[in-house]
Amino acid sequence: METADYQRILEDVAHEVAGTVGRGRVADYIPALAAVDPESFGIALADVDGGVYGVGQWQQPFSVQSISKTFTLALALARGGESLWKRVGREPSGNPFNSLLQLELENGIPRNPFINAGALVVTDELLSLTGGDASGVLLDFLREESGNDTVDFDRVVAASEADHGHRNAALSHFMAGYGNLVNPVETVLEHYFRQCSVAMSCQDLALAATFLARHGVRRDGGRFLTRSGAKQINAVMLTCGTYDAAGEFAYRVGLPGKSGVGGGILVVIPQRCTLCVWGPGLDERGNSVVGMAAMDSFTTITGWSIF
Ligand code: DON
Repeated sequence: METADYQRILEDVAHEVAGTVGRGRVADYIPALAAVDPESFGIALADVDGGVYGVGQWQQPFSVQSISKTFTLALALARGGESLWKRVGREPSGNPFNSLLQLELENGIPRNPFINAGALVVTDELLSLTGGDASGVLLDFLREESGNDTVDFDRVVAASEADHGHRNAALSHFMAGYGNLVNPVETVLEHYFRQCSVAMSCQDLALAATFLARHGVRRDGGRFLTRSGAKQINAVMLTCGTYDAAGEFAYRVGLPGKSGVGGGILVVIPQRCTLCVWGPGLDERGNSVVGMAAMDSFTTITGWSIF
């Protein structure tokens, strides 16, 4: 496919989903997120050779929220955190992202690294691996890979989530009770809220994730993850990246994907490109309505999926 076609495909996708923009409900359990314009929409594609294309508000920063979990998992594994898999599983949970139900039945071991409980364990592991600077190491990585030095935490969003973060605090204390958190609960939560608060655009996120399309190789050509490490993260994105909608996402899109309640969805097409779409209206499982529709449309138009 000619690179110029990427732009045209994104325009076709945007045209096709125009009627879906604004549908769904903006997340309001983190009050600072509720202020965003529900009609926002953007989509970007970054290819493995460094090209980047976009339509709509593809350069406007939004709250990455759970999309950050892809990067913290990659950083923990890249820094030798293989033992992480003793503390967190890699099976779909079939439950909402913030559910407490399975944790007790499964002795404080979260099902996977993308539900909130699992991501808290990853942040805890990354804190240990970085001498206490999990969110700082994440921010440096995101700035380098996106090529955008202005990527930053949103302190208002982080504080808002901390003020309303009772479920995440409950999950953390519960896991600490099982001995599955090493660092103090308050420290883990502080870094977790900070990582979720990072503001990035579709362009920034698509670029920052291209190592997953390049089998673990960073933008500068340096190896970040082993080939099988990148495959493992893509596999967990496919099976667990959209929570209790992962089956529906695989059915409609057929690609590794990770969503966030800020309305972003990041998708990887191994060997080819990454895509990021943003539309803040969410479905009842916490995934962007227009984002799901756009990814569905993209794979239908191109025929690209891993199946
Ligand atoms: O912990 C939370 O609830 C949020 N910071 C992130 C949740 C999220 O993005 C789930 N995604 N769909």
